[in-house]
Amino acid sequence: MPTRDSLYGTPDKLLARLRLHTEFATHPLGWFPWWHETVQPARFARVLDVGCGDGSLWAAAESLPERLTLVDTSPGMLTRAGERVAGRGSEVVRVNASAHALPFDDASFDAVIANHMLYHTTPPRALAELRRVLSRGGRLFAATNGPDAMAEMHDLITVLRPSYRRPHFHEVFGLHNGPAMVAQHFEDVRVERYPNHLEVTDSRALIDYILSMEATKDLTAEEQAQLRSGADAQITEHGHLRIQGDTGVITARAAQNPWAPRILEEQPDVEARLVDVQLHLRLDRDVDVVAEAVGDVAQLRE
Ligand SMILES: C[S@@+](CC[C@H](N)C(=O)[O-])C[C@H]1O[C@@H](n2cnc3c(N)ncnc32)[C@H](O)[C@@H]1O
Repeated sequence: MPTRDSLYGTPDKLLARLRLHTEFATHPLGWFPWWHETVQPARFARVLDVGCGDGSLWAAAESLPERLTLVDTSPGMLTRAGERVAGRGSEVVRVNASAHALPFDDASFDAVIANHMLYHTTPPRALAELRRVLSRGGRLFAATNGPDAMAEMHDLITVLRPSYRRPHFHEVFGLHNGPAMVAQHFEDVRVERYPNHLEVTDSRALIDYILSMEATKDLTAEEQAQLRSGADAQITEHGHLRIQGDTGVITARAAQNPWAPRILEEQPDVEARLVDVQLHLRLDRDVDVVAEAVGDVAQLRE
């Protein structure tokens, strides 16, 4: 499996990937504007963007949250991201750290963003950490791909190199299996799908994307030419090369009461849940938790 450094040591490889997605998307808004319209991050005061990459997300934002914390394991990415948000009127903090061990206190943020990065982590570990730094009721937004993303591109490469195996990032944390992992730590888990596919009209941009992938970075000039002519044939015939999209954002909320999702999951029976809530009331000395739990009890009794 490619290492993070080989993929993201500098922003160039990420740029090749973003270029294909931004130039050839068919959705009228494009990925980042769609994401902003869907998530509206500026409504949250304290926002953490983990695995922020080169900051393209924020370059596409009309307004920034009041306080934005950017985290990435790659110093090169952080530098570029910092340049893109400088002078935008927000308090921006950049931190070189991993999602597995965030150097922030519990409940420090109102929203956490983890776009196209949880598949580089051990998701249960990273998700527990994201939950820890979120305040109660805080929101998680984790974009990722599903199994069908870029299927036609992977097919083109397979014709050229039958031994090629497409990267299995989506198997680590994808749109299809991510929600269940998120639900282990969060409640109100939903998937917002980005209804989009690519119509590529420039085979060079496709080759640049393919060369940015670890498995195909060593394509010979001859292989590149073969791929290009395969893509060009389709572009000539159909006016474009169609590449399927399968991307979206998993949204979730940090439970008001950290124990509530477990109770709801484990106790289908309302009366049994009440007993559990009352037990937690007696055990939990946190005034806020007690107050919220009283609300829960009242709601369950209605
Ligand atoms: C595909 S890029 C996504 C960048 C950005 N979130 C976006 O959507 O444009 C993945 C980013 O995650 C970073 N990354 C990978 N593993 C990480 C980890 N464990 N903690 C923090 N960042 C990580 C990489 O350095 C890279 O910048």
